[in-house]
Amino acid sequence: MTPALQRASARSADVLVTGEFAFATADFRAIAEIAKDDAGIDLPESKATLVYSRLAKRLRSLGLATFSEYLDRVRADDQERGSMIAALTTNVTRFFREPHHFEYLRKNILEPKAAHVRKGGRLRLWSSACSTGQEPYSMALTVLSVFPDAPQLDIRILATDLNANVVAHGKRGMYRKEEVAEVPQAMRTKWLESVPGDADSMRVADATRSLVAFRELNLMSNWPFKGPFDAIFCRNVAIYFDHETQAMIWKRLSSLLASGGDLYIGHSERVAGPALNVLTANGVTSYRKKSDAQR
Ligand SMILES: C[S@@+](CC[C@H](N)C(=O)[O-])C[C@H]1O[C@@H](n2cnc3c(N)ncnc32)[C@H](O)[C@@H]1O
Repeated sequence: MTPALQRASARSADVLVTGEFAFATADFRAIAEIAKDDAGIDLPESKATLVYSRLAKRLRSLGLATFSEYLDRVRADDQERGSMIAALTTNVTRFFREPHHFEYLRKNILEPKAAHVRKGGRLRLWSSACSTGQEPYSMALTVLSVFPDAPQLDIRILATDLNANVVAHGKRGMYRKEEVAEVPQAMRTKWLESVPGDADSMRVADATRSLVAFRELNLMSNWPFKGPFDAIFCRNVAIYFDHETQAMIWKRLSSLLASGGDLYIGHSERVAGPALNVLTANGVTSYRKKSDAQR
């Protein structure tokens, strides 16, 4: 048997997901290894069908017949490697998701710092897995509810995500009317605007957008800033990482928090590991950096 035939027969004996494209266990393992190395994303074999369906579109658009061919392409082409990771990310989000965090932000951080900020003091917030922007804009709207003149103050919200497509969406700040229905009416009227010629969408107004800087950033990479941040939102992303990677991320995030600053995480996530030396739980999936903790 030629090597090519050997590979083909091994593949047919080891089909992980049956469908339009040949997908063997070895293909799945190679994809899982790249997802872990590049983005910290942990893919157990139970996710094989999900991986297949997320990537099938890529194979179709590249005119490929097997995942093995697709992997050859990914290994040779960094851009396709990035597209594969982007396709594997889950970007579900919405305005004011887990609303208690925005209440904490207002009561624990914004209101206590109001006098300091009005005197010219700085306030820095970070949405560290911002997806299509609803989370950082909800932070901005909460800021505006306390500081209607926020664009004139030293207030900045950094919004980052690994996936370039969602970052571009966030920058555009355009959303369907059903999506913005989650924004309280008074805020919607004041800080969002209609889009001429598009009755189904609304755009985040310039004043609101001016508070938020969108950037591509992989949480696994070096971070090109030092903080400190008064609050960090890292919600519904660590759930895709293994426990060791989660502990590392919590530690890195807590080192960028100002003392007395808050870390908000997703509803099914818990901080564990060395970060607990400097953080204390102070609400539902909310942690406060101890005031005597070193950065
Ligand atoms: C489910 S969304 C969460 C969005 C928002 N934080 C929320 O809770 O509504 C998860 C986001 O994490 C991003 N993500 C996944 N791995 C990442 C990584 N290593 N670095 C940065 N962002 C990542 C994905 O691209 C996706 O947009």
